[in-house]
Amino acid sequence: MGANNAFCCWFTGLSGSGKTTLAKELVKTIKALGIPVVFLDGDQLREGLNSNLDFTLESRIENNRRAAEVAKIMLRSGIYVVASFISPTREIRDLVKTIIGSERYVEIFVDTSLGTCIRRDNKGLYKKALKGEIELFTGIHMPFEVPEASDLRIDMTFLNLFTANEVVLNFWQKKKATFDKSTSVEKTSL
Ligand code: ADX
Repeated sequence: MGANNAFCCWFTGLSGSGKTTLAKELVKTIKALGIPVVFLDGDQLREGLNSNLDFTLESRIENNRRAAEVAKIMLRSGIYVVASFISPTREIRDLVKTIIGSERYVEIFVDTSLGTCIRRDNKGLYKKALKGEIELFTGIHMPFEVPEASDLRIDMTFLNLFTANEVVLNFWQKKKATFDKSTSVEKTSL
């Protein structure tokens, strides 16, 4: 069996921060390189696997836990993972990291200010949340704890999408090169 150097890029950030847009572009590029990759997205998983979960803290933990377990299965098979979840608390992100394994977990914080997300409001959800039509909305009624030790932080308040995509792709390629050189991941029993 050859070395398994697959790793997971976990995008975290507010709803509407642009994490899914960046994640999807990364997935496209990885696919174009002929590398097996799976995309896990909060909105998508909540339609199926996690359709019984709401937005209480407890449900968010379970939502992220299941996603991380799926990521772990994929990584075990040598499939790269790109995931996009709000993952709003330190506790949640720590859990995800523990499940996946810290050596294969790469965190990307899409840092878009709450004000910008509210102004852009692509899905119209902030408007509804501010009117009280949606409960437990991240940033409005529920906290988003800023990640302090992400592997990459992208300031999307000022960066345009083209540049942000470039930053993510370059980062991923550098990470891949590091993983491919290192032997430490091979030693971990997945
Ligand atoms: S997480 O907190 O459990 O990590 P997840 O990434 O799966 O969240 O889902 C977030 C998406 O669900 C948002 O982008 C938004 O489209 C939708 N959503 C619906 N209701 C809420 C809510 N109350 N808080 C946050 N996101 C919500």
